[in-house]
Amino acid sequence: MSVDVLLGLQWGDEGKGKIVDYLAPKYDVVTRFQGGPNAGHSLEFDGHKHVLHQIPSGIFRDGIKNVIGNGVVLDPVIFKKEIEGLDKFNLDFKPNLYISKKTQIILPTHKLIDAASERAKGEQKIGSTLKGIGPTYQDKIGRFGLRVGDILTKNFKEKYDNLVKRHLGILKFYDYPADNLQELEAAFFKALEFLKTFNLSDSEYLINGYLNENKSVLAEGAQGSLLDVDFGSYPFVTSSNTMTAGACTGLGVAPQKIKEVYGIFKAYCTRVGSGPFPTELHDATGERLRAEGSEFGATTGRPRRCGWLDLPALNYAIILNGVTQLFITKVDVLNNFDTINVCVGYQLEDGTETKELPYDLCDETVVPIYKSFKGWKQEVNATSFEDFPTELKEYLSFIEDQVKVPITLVSVGPDRTETILK
Ligand code: GDP
Ligand code: IMO
Ligand code: MG
Repeated sequence: MSVDVLLGLQWGDEGKGKIVDYLAPKYDVVTRFQGGPNAGHSLEFDGHKHVLHQIPSGIFRDGIKNVIGNGVVLDPVIFKKEIEGLDKFNLDFKPNLYISKKTQIILPTHKLIDAASERAKGEQKIGSTLKGIGPTYQDKIGRFGLRVGDILTKNFKEKYDNLVKRHLGILKFYDYPADNLQELEAAFFKALEFLKTFNLSDSEYLINGYLNENKSVLAEGAQGSLLDVDFGSYPFVTSSNTMTAGACTGLGVAPQKIKEVYGIFKAYCTRVGSGPFPTELHDATGERLRAEGSEFGATTGRPRRCGWLDLPALNYAIILNGVTQLFITKVDVLNNFDTINVCVGYQLEDGTETKELPYDLCDETVVPIYKSFKGWKQEVNATSFEDFPTELKEYLSFIEDQVKVPITLVSVGPDRTETILK
């Protein structure tokens, strides 16, 4: 069968985890294709609230295969903690959890280099999650990296020592201390032994084999399109391709195997870390979005920057990903707003207007052009789109009209059940 991709169209935290968990029973396989522990995907069901970082969000559903693809960067120490955190749920997921042998490993020194690099950037820091993502992807592209399959080889320690020697040189350049490295290494090697007890697989064969057996695959994106290393607000981005194309290289599936592309976005916008954010609100409305949306990072706990929905940015992400269906989340957060604004274009510094993202949002200051909507001012208890309040229907149809893609799922709360499908 085919691969459907679900990915974030903004700066991450759109509610991917919740929706993947919701959709997972329709699929045979759920798989992550990029990113790593920088992701924090929250799931809520039966009174439990759980955050996943590297493990695919299909893990709570019986009998589904969960695959960590080759495009991911995996921190073994965080992986061990995540698995131990699942103990209390008494799930029998281990036989169904696979990790690609080609997945890159995050070393303790990658995390130190991440911190050193951010410190050196000072005011210009990316606002990285400090999980070692950038340095690990740098080593992958630089052809220095270590992969999960390497831990099964006889000379792994030698490969590890060589890479760490290189890393210590980099840390020396940054004048950054590596004093606690021994302690970090002890936990790291313990976690590698733990990792060895899992299905370390040639996941490209595994996934293509499933597809040949007519099984359905859901690829779960991490971060969001505006954090993509090629098309995001560079350099304030993450270090992977967060888009549909990333699912092909991050899993080893051919482009023609991709069928539906579910693009997920919040009814407003948030961003954690540094970088341009045209519709950011620095006022009481921004504070209110943060408070009512509980906008605090699932990985770092940092307050998220909040602002209105940005249609030029959304449209850009839709084009790049080939989105076939839109999923809107956190609609309930706007329940009590009198007025809801949506950015429909930007005014550039020279006074001209555009609906396209300028080359460099860091250099060009754009002023958002807003269209205002009347709020629906009520809880959305509907079970079907037809029963939505009129103002909400108008808000949704306006978005659909502007971006020419249908909205087929509306999320009105963090719980699995608070989801309305068209
Ligand atoms: P992800 O990284 O895309 O998986 O998103 P996060 O889990 O980092 O952040 C989304 C946050 O919003 C989490 O706390 C979710 O529990 C919560 N959430 C998801 N959907 C909804 C929704 O429709 N309404 C509300 N109020 N919260 C939601
Ligand atoms: P999920 O999957 C929101 C942001 C960081 C920083 C930039 C680079 O939960 O949506 P990195 O650690 O990747 O080097 O940080 O990207 N970032 C995220 N923001 N959600 C995420 O993941 C993020 N992963 C990274 O805040 O600005
Ligand atoms: Mg998140």
